[in-house]
Amino acid sequence: MSLFNEILQLKKDTGVAVLAHFYEDGAIQDLADFVGDSYQLALYGQRCAEQKILLAGVVFMAESVKIMNPAKRVFVPDLGAGCSLVDSSPYEKYLQWRVENPRAVAVTYINSSAAVKSISDVIITSSNAEKIVNSIPRDREILFGPDQHLGRWLSQKLNRPMKFWPGSCQVHVLFHAKKLNELKFKHPDAVVLAHPECDESVLQFADVVGSTSKLLSEVQTNPAKKFIVATESGIFHQMKKSRPDVELIQAPTMDEGCNCNDCPFMKMNTLEKIRDCLRDETNEVFVPQEFAEKSLTALSRMVTLAEGGSALWPEKFYATER
Ligand code: 13P
Ligand code: SF4
Repeated sequence: MSLFNEILQLKKDTGVAVLAHFYEDGAIQDLADFVGDSYQLALYGQRCAEQKILLAGVVFMAESVKIMNPAKRVFVPDLGAGCSLVDSSPYEKYLQWRVENPRAVAVTYINSSAAVKSISDVIITSSNAEKIVNSIPRDREILFGPDQHLGRWLSQKLNRPMKFWPGSCQVHVLFHAKKLNELKFKHPDAVVLAHPECDESVLQFADVVGSTSKLLSEVQTNPAKKFIVATESGIFHQMKKSRPDVELIQAPTMDEGCNCNDCPFMKMNTLEKIRDCLRDETNEVFVPQEFAEKSLTALSRMVTLAEGGSALWPEKFYATER
């Protein structure tokens, strides 16, 4: 039996729901029960009936599913699949930033540790950030982290001043603005798509800026025949599947041939690791209780606001009470 079919059989036998992010390899996306952006994965994890979930993505995504569903068991193919944004926002330093700005609303990207989420007022993803930030009263100061590029893009788009944490995605910062401009010149008929984790020098050349799901839906609905794509390579799989008739061009990175547009963390997941994880129930994700409860408040606020509800904002951050 092929490895792919072995996994399909294991899924049936174990009743585990397999969820995959758009940045995973094509074969992983093809065997998943659901493929989505980081918000869609969190929501699917909450809404699916299965009590065991294997999330083929990075660990912070699986932690979010676990926090939102404490009774479900959540697994990842590789517990080492981190994220440079998580690494660039250590808890103690983030806490210090919050303490220095106690009256600000802390808006935190889902690409963060459970500990940092626990000292945040609300979590956002790039698919819901505009709606959520717009729901914060205009007179409240905003601390945005850990991705400074997403924050800057939001701040400019919404005309909303913010203080930024200086974190960035090690993959998206490598797209090269000057080379992108040259490529655009060579392909004047191409639509340029970019994830907001890219530097603003790159975003200025983009026709559409948005989450992975937004970039995919642009390819699915825009009648153009050519797209230049400034995000991780895995997204090409669904784009090609839905529009085999279009030319998809990877946006240029600093060094050619470096595969810099592959996220090394997402690509740690393999079919072998998924098979082993399903078979042996290894790599279960646990979130310390002290962080889980407080992060749930911020994650729940995200879902409420993203789904059209309203929320109350704490007036002040009390470090010791949280
Ligand atoms: P999305 O929320 O757009 O899926 O992005 C997640 C991510 O990690 C981008 O690098
Ligand atoms: Fe993190 Fe960047 Fe990888 Fe997304 S692409 S998981 S932000 S390192």
